[in-house]
Amino acid sequence: HHMNSRITDFSAQKATLKAVLLEGIHPSAVDVLRQGGYTNIVTHTKALMGDELLAALDGAHFVGVRSRTQLTAAILEAAPQLAAIGCFCIGTNQVDLKTAMRLGIPVFNAPFSNTRSVAELVLAQVIMLMRGIPEKNAILHRGGWVKSAAHSYEVRGKTLGIIGYGHIGTQIGVLAEQLGMRVVFRDIAAKLPLGNAREVNNLDELLAISDVGTLHVPETPQTHQLMGAKELAAMKPGSHLINASRGTVVDIEALCAVLESRHLQGAAIDVFPVEPQGNDGAFVSSLTKFDNVILTPHIGGSTSEAQVNIGSEVAAKLVRYGNNGSTTSAVNFPEVALPEHTGRSRLLHIHKNVPGVLAHVNERLSAASINIAAQYLSTFEDVGYVVIDVDSAASEAALDELNGVPGTIRCRILY
Ligand code: NAI
Repeated sequence: HHMNSRITDFSAQKATLKAVLLEGIHPSAVDVLRQGGYTNIVTHTKALMGDELLAALDGAHFVGVRSRTQLTAAILEAAPQLAAIGCFCIGTNQVDLKTAMRLGIPVFNAPFSNTRSVAELVLAQVIMLMRGIPEKNAILHRGGWVKSAAHSYEVRGKTLGIIGYGHIGTQIGVLAEQLGMRVVFRDIAAKLPLGNAREVNNLDELLAISDVGTLHVPETPQTHQLMGAKELAAMKPGSHLINASRGTVVDIEALCAVLESRHLQGAAIDVFPVEPQGNDGAFVSSLTKFDNVILTPHIGGSTSEAQVNIGSEVAAKLVRYGNNGSTTSAVNFPEVALPEHTGRSRLLHIHKNVPGVLAHVNERLSAASINIAAQYLSTFEDVGYVVIDVDSAASEAALDELNGVPGTIRCRILY
């Protein structure tokens, strides 16, 4: 029943296709959708649930959510027109990704929109910690005055150790070098060192030479309590630790112990093993007693610029999929990056990833004497995605042929 109710021609009917944006997504998303030709946009300021969500999704081809809207299997099954989902945030666990995949719905997110925001905060924390500012600030707030140069250092010439040299880690490395810091890093993958950054042989070596160690790894079984008692003990005496990655990466009790003993001079922690659910929740942590620890409420990536970037980045991915068929960086879907298809029609065929589908597609097109100008295929888990460019004159016939292929989940045409 999914097939019948579906609009298959996005390019001709663009203006009627409905995009629903929930949870007060930044207006930059609306701008990008409009520029892409999608003008039928409905926005909601809040997350919706149950029947209200179903009503809002009625007839929606694109839906944009942030972290609160739960797109469960039941909701997705009840939204037959839905062609793509945009998560205007980093996380995607509010969406049933498997079900979306099986229904042929790619899910997009914004993994790198706030990279710079995190990098800038960490850079500031490096300087603040090296100067001992957090403690001095706390003393003055209580009416004290301790004017001293003890434990106060410039960052120039000091060593910054970056654990996890990915998008954020590399940005920080570049910025820190501009301040005259030496940069060393560790990563489990082979990484191109930027600037004069140097890869060290192992984590212990990094910890032993770094004046500040900063964590930028993902949350994985391998990174769970990556910084435990043993690793904290391996840090250079008097050094600092920064964690703006995920709360599970640092053993907080072990960190308290090395702060207590002054083996570490300070820390900046933005993420916690347990975080309050909302802004009325209470923050409970054994770190609150330390003046020399900068505590922030998981705001490493929270800036106005990041909000704007997230809006336009995710909307651009929806537009690109709608207009061109590209699924680059979809989190649950075969990735296909496609060139322009000027002068031709493009057929997008999403199918069950079982043997023989592509052969079947090509047999049918060949039997109908339809010439394939270009073809792109990618598969991911249960789903295959084949894109076929044909002469425009043959496109309707080709669409009919493709819809007859066993295993077809959905099929769409771009003129
Ligand atoms: P990324 O995926 O670009 O980089 C992560 C790097 O860590 C990769 O190079 C990977 O190979 C490496 N890695 C993975 N396991 C490792 C291990 N066991 N040891 C050493 N390296 C390892 O990710 P990105 O965008 O740089 O983000 C990094 C972290 O920052 C993530 O945990 C992300 O969730 C977090 N984050 C936090 C924000 C905040 O508000 N505090 C905002 C944005 C991201």
